[in-house]
Amino acid sequence: MTLKTSKHKAAWDRQWRGNLLSTCLLHADREAGRAVVEGWAAFFSKLPEGAKILDAGTGNGFLALIALDVSDRLERNFEIHGSDYAAINPVAAVPEQGELLKRIKFHPETRNEDLPFEDRTFDAVSAQHALEYGDLTKSIEEISRILKKGARVRFLIHVADGEIVRANAPKIAQCRYVLEEIGLFEIAEAAVEEALAGKGDEGRALRKALSETAGNFKDDPNTRDLAELLGLLWGAFEGRANFPDFAAFKTWLNQNRLETEAQMLRIEAMGEAALTKENAEALIAEMKSSGFKEVALREDQDPKTGAVGGWLVEGVKG
Ligand SMILES: C[S@@+](CC[C@H](N)C(=O)[O-])C[C@H]1O[C@@H](n2cnc3c(N)ncnc32)[C@H](O)[C@@H]1O
Repeated sequence: MTLKTSKHKAAWDRQWRGNLLSTCLLHADREAGRAVVEGWAAFFSKLPEGAKILDAGTGNGFLALIALDVSDRLERNFEIHGSDYAAINPVAAVPEQGELLKRIKFHPETRNEDLPFEDRTFDAVSAQHALEYGDLTKSIEEISRILKKGARVRFLIHVADGEIVRANAPKIAQCRYVLEEIGLFEIAEAAVEEALAGKGDEGRALRKALSETAGNFKDDPNTRDLAELLGLLWGAFEGRANFPDFAAFKTWLNQNRLETEAQMLRIEAMGEAALTKENAEALIAEMKSSGFKEVALREDQDPKTGAVGGWLVEGVKG
């Protein structure tokens, strides 16, 4: 198995500061998303009263909240932890879920390869599109170490050339074009600066750049985020009077540029993280040699479309 180090921590830090529960609600289709949630709920439902659960690479606690919901519905009184190497603070980032999130113990800046927990103390570990970003071998060893005998694991892992990776791949070229080739943020800045200085060409250069960008990717299957960004930039140009001053506009623009960069890095990282069938089988072999039994690997498929959402790995600590 290849040794990998998680990259782009700053991109994840940025993402989880946003009011966002998960990037991984894998399927745009709500029905299919529900099937994924149900799969996790079924896993947590198997756990005993008072079970201690770790959601590794939790982000803003999406799976941890599913575990909490199961705990409340079935009166299981789970002790739920969520760890992530990003500087997560879900209670602050997602205030609408704050009261629930407060009942979960979060561990920011915590790598799956180096978990700050005692040996044999957890009854379950879940991970949704998280382990594969780091060093799988070390992470599996660590997870094995903290689990009690008979504890359960369930991991969802990106499939190389699977639906999620394929659907997101076009966005890399779109981000790169906007950031590096055409320099759209700089064009927007110049347009607003000129307009504020009374040079009234009505943002012609910006409009041209926006339509060139849209035209360049018109045949791409996935342009929703791009279209949103282009709309946002034009809206900001038109609404420039709403910014207190040019410095405030530049700050806003810079935040959007950084978010676009971070999105590109996260999608690139996802492509690198995804496992081929061979890699997934190697992971299963490693789990067995790390003391897991009843280890099963299957493709998690959307029941309706058959699209593959990930490798689904389950096992029991021997
Ligand atoms: C695609 S997100 C998934 C987040 C969450 N599980 C969900 O479903 O919303 C991947 C997460 O893995 C985290 N991550 C990446 N490498 C990690 C590592 N080595 N140890 C712990 N977390 C890591 C990232 O910070 C990010 O939050």
